[in-house]
Amino acid sequence: SATGAPVMVAPAMDARMFDNPATRANLATLGDRGVHVAGPDSGRMASGLEGVGRMVEPQELIGHARLVLGRAGDMAGRRLVVTAGGTEEPIDPVRVITNRSSGKMGLAVAEAARDRGADVTLISAGSTRPGPVGVSMVRAGSARAMADAVREAAGRADAVVMAAAVSDWTPAAPSETKLKKGEAGELTLGLERTEDVIASVEGPGLIKVGFALETEELERNARAKLAAKGLDLIVANDALQEDVGMGADQNRVIMIGRDGQAQHVPTMSKYEVGHRILDRVGGLLAERGGGSAGELIEHG
Ligand code: CTP
Repeated sequence: SATGAPVMVAPAMDARMFDNPATRANLATLGDRGVHVAGPDSGRMASGLEGVGRMVEPQELIGHARLVLGRAGDMAGRRLVVTAGGTEEPIDPVRVITNRSSGKMGLAVAEAARDRGADVTLISAGSTRPGPVGVSMVRAGSARAMADAVREAAGRADAVVMAAAVSDWTPAAPSETKLKKGEAGELTLGLERTEDVIASVEGPGLIKVGFALETEELERNARAKLAAKGLDLIVANDALQEDVGMGADQNRVIMIGRDGQAQHVPTMSKYEVGHRILDRVGGLLAERGGGSAGELIEHG
C-alpha cells in the first residue's frame, strides 16, 4: 500500500469461503507482511448460513485499531499485571460475599496500558465476559484465587496495578452443599482474614501500585497503606462520592508516591485516570532503569 501507517484488515465473507485454502493462504501472507488481521468471527451471515466469516463487531475493531496504534507507545515491551473487580467469597455453592466494585477502574487501566503498547494481563474477579482486545484475561473469583493468579503473573511483570477490591474476610468453612434454611431463624457466619495480595507479592524490580478506598481521612489512610503494603504508588479515592469512584464511569483521585507528595487528579473518565496512573508508572520504570523484567532476570 502507499501508506507508511500500520495496516489492519477486517475480513468478512460468506460461510465456507474462509475455509478455502486460497483465503487462508492470502490472509497468512498479509499477516507475514505485518498487516494486522482482525477476525473474522463466527456466527450467522447475511446469507443465512452459519460459520466463520462475520466481520468483527465495530466496537471490537476499535480495540484492534488501538492495539495496533499503541505498539509504538511508551510502554512497548513492558509487562503489566492489572487486577479488577470485587472478589466473591463462597458461603456455599450458590452464595457469595462480595462488594460493590464494578471492575471499571481496573479495566480502564488495562485498556490504557494496551493503548501505550504494554503487554497486559488483566486478572478479573468479576465478569466472565471476554476482556479487551489484545489483553490476556485471567479469571480469579475469590481472594485466594486472586492471590495465586497475581503471584503467578507478577514474577514476569514490570508492574502490578492492584485495582481489585479484594475481600478482607472469607467464610472460614464454606459449605460444600447448599445451606438449607431449615427451622433456625438466624445464621452466624464465621469469617477469617484473607491474605493481603499486594503487600505479599514480590518480583525483581517490581513496581507496586495499590488503591485506597476510604470513607474518611482519605489522604492519611492512603499514606498509611502505601507504607504498610510497601507500595511505590497509591491511588486514593473516596467511597462516599456519588458521581465518581465505585460503579461510576469517572473518577477523582489523589496519587501519592514514596516521596509523600500528593497529586490531585480532578474528575475525568476512568480511562483518562488510567493514563495518569501509567504516566507515574512510566516515571517509576525509568527511575528503576534497566529493561523489562525479563531482561532484569536474565542479567541477574
Ligand atoms: N488489597 C489486597 N489484598 C487484600 C486487600 C486489599 O491486595 N486482601 C489491595 C487492594 O487491591 C488495594 C489496596 O490493597 O490496592 C488497598 O485496599 P483497601 O480495601 O483500600 O484497604 P485494606 O487493605 O482492605 O484496608 P482497610 O480495610 O483497613 O481499609
